This record gives sequence, C-alpha cells and structure tokens, in this order.
Amino acid sequence: MVALPHALHTLWPAAAASTFWSWSWLHAANCDLTNQASSLVLPQTQIQLVAPTPNNLTLSSVGLAFGVQNYTCTQTNNFTNIGAVAELIDMSCLAGSSVFHDLPDQLYSSWVNFNHSSVQDIIGHLHMRNPPEILAQHYFITNPTTGQGLSPKWDFTSSGKFNGNSNAFFVGKGEGSLPSPNDPKQDINWLQVGNLQGKIADMVFRTDTRGGQPPSSCEFGKSPDISVKYVSYYFFFGGSIH
Ligand SMILES: *[C@@H]1O[C@H](CO)[C@@H](O)[C@H](O)[C@H]1NC(C)=O
Ligand SMILES: *[C@@H]1O[C@H](CO)[C@@H](O)[C@H](O)[C@H]1NC(C)=O
Ligand SMILES: *[C@@H]1O[C@H](CO)[C@@H](O)[C@H](O)[C@H]1NC(C)=O
Ligand SMILES: *[C@@H]1O[C@H](CO)[C@@H](O)[C@H](O)[C@H]1NC(C)=O
Repeated sequence: MVALPHALHTLWPAAAASTFWSWSWLHAANCDLTNQASSLVLPQTQIQLVAPTPNNLTLSSVGLAFGVQNYTCTQTNNFTNIGAVAELIDMSCLAGSSVFHDLPDQLYSSWVNFNHSSVQDIIGHLHMRNPPEILAQHYFITNPTTGQGLSPKWDFTSSGKFNGNSNAFFVGKGEGSLPSPNDPKQDINWLQVGNLQGKIADMVFRTDTRGGQPPSSCEFGKSPDISVKYVSYYFFFGGSIH
C-alpha cells in the first residue's frame, strides 16, 4: 500500500483516518488521459447513454466522488431529489488500471462507515490543505438559463491544477439516465449530462454508482428531509481548458 499523503493523513485522528483514508489510490494526480477513454464502461445492451466517439471528445478528467444525495418527501409519499454535495478525487492515474472498477465498492463501504464528519466538513478541511488529489466539488445551483429549478455543477475552481481559474466548472442538464446495472434499488442511476455552462467539459457521465437511493416510500408532512451517502465515478469529456 502506498503511503498516505501527509496532508490527508493529518486531518483526522488515526482511527478515523485508517477506516477512510487508508487508500492506496491516494497517491497521484494529473496523469494524461488521452488513451484512457475506454475506462468509461457502459453496459452493452443499453441505449440511454451514448459514449462520445473517439476523435470527437477526448476524456479530460475522471473523478471518484463521495458525498450525499438529498431528498424531500412529496405529496405522493415518495422521495424526490433536491440536491447533492460531493467531493471528487482525481483518478486520472488509475484509469485503465485493473483495480479501477473495484474502487467505487471499496470507497462506498468505507464512506458509509465513516461517521466522524459530514461531507461538508471534509470538503472544508481538504480545502484548507488543497492536496493535488482533490479534483472538484459537486453541488447544485439555480438553473443559470431559466433562473428556476436546480442544475448540477462540478466546480474545479478551487482545487488542484485549476485552482483560481474561474472558467474551470461545468453546469449541466440531464441527457440520459440508466438504472444502475449493479443494484438499482440501492444505487442511483447512471447519467449522461450535457453542457449548459462552463469550460471544463462538453459532456459528463456518472457511472459505477454505489448507494444514494432513498427509501421507496415516506410520509408527506412527517418524514424529514434525508441525505443518502453515495459514491460514483464522474467522467468529463471535451472542454476547452486542460
Ligand atoms: C461529437 O460530440 C458532440 C457532442 O459534444 C455531438 O453533438 C456530435 O454529434 C459528435 N460527433 C460525432 C461525429 O460523433
Ligand atoms: C412518486 O409516486 C408517484 C405516484 O405514484 C409517481 O408518479 C412518481 O413517479 C414517483 N416519484 C418518484 C421520484 O419515484
Ligand atoms: C444536502 O444535505 C446536507 C445535510 O445532510 C446539507 O448540509 C446540504 O446543504 C444539502 N445540500 C443540498 C444541495 O441540498
Ligand atoms: C455509521 O453510520 C451508519 C448509518 O447510521 C451505520 O450503519 C454504521 O454502522 C456506522 N458505522 C460505524 C463504524 O459506526
């Protein structure tokens, strides 16, 4: 196992760090992804998500995210998504490696058992250190074109190599949704997201999801809002800044 970067290791007490950060993947960032587009693996039988053709959009970033999906209970007594918060770790140096598609499972089991701090607190701590392995933050903003409703944003402006670059973000709109081929009751859908704003990418995919699904029913007016932990990959294609 590769030694933990000092910056991450010092954030938490040893016990907490060993359950969550004892990760051999936390050791490198900013590798070249030119020949790694095939690390996006979509189920062959589906038509909902369409990978970019080679020579069209190149793979520019890959992040492994951990965070929460937020839900509120609707009048029809089921949960609807009202946002998400996640931290993305740079996976460019592991794309194409034999362990790549096993990592979401491993991170998910660590994340659901890491009860020492919220994802917001982790993001805050990591922000102060800003190690190169931190790729971006994912959250929701008001839809910038209609001014109504929420749009997902991936924000690369305050971490890693794009730190301080105000164009280093992606605000998207859903273009395709596929029930998880792993366990659709536990794991949120895989997604294809098109560009509304930002220069970091032209298209984003959410894949290899673990967790994030709410309970199937709730009681309107009684059930509180909930946050459900999840892990996924995000693949960023294209973009005009690299
Ligand atoms: C290239 O990608 C864009 C999406 O950014 C798509 O609209 C276009 O059809 C693609 N072209 C080819 C030849 O695949
Ligand atoms: C909630 O339930 C209603 C009525 O059964 C259904 O139409 C809707 O798709 C459900 N929404 C979600 C998010 O499952
Ligand atoms: C999601 O829920 C968490 C609490 O678990 C909260 O701190 C965060 O602001 C929420 N974010 C969104 C976008 O709903
Ligand atoms: C952390 O919290 C989750 C959800 O409440 C629980 O299932 C899990 O057992 C807890 N893990 C530890 C190590 O306490």
